[in-house]
Amino acid sequence: MSDDTPVIRFFRGSKPIGVVAVVPDAPILEMAEIAGVEIPSNCTSGTCGTCLVKLRGGEVDLPEELPPGLDEELVELGGTLTCCIKPKGSCEIDVIPPAW
Ligand code: FES
Repeated sequence: MSDDTPVIRFFRGSKPIGVVAVVPDAPILEMAEIAGVEIPSNCTSGTCGTCLVKLRGGEVDLPEELPPGLDEELVELGGTLTCCIKPKGSCEIDVIPPAW
């Protein structure tokens, strides 16, 4: 990985648990699988909220209309759904979802 390759770093709380190069057009969940990081998922379509994680750094490509599994309040807490949301460049993800 060269220095300017965008990467996703996964954490559990403060503990780093994996890193993976960003796969263009892939949702975060897919990259977690490549990194060997387990994120629970269920519907994989943005509805159930099972795959909720916390975005610690970087930006994700939030759709204008939030999927049913996410709301503004969660987004403000850093919440993001991994099954259907793609990163915009490098990101840091905490697999522990925001408390709500
Ligand atoms: S798995 Fe259901 S919202 Fe992501």
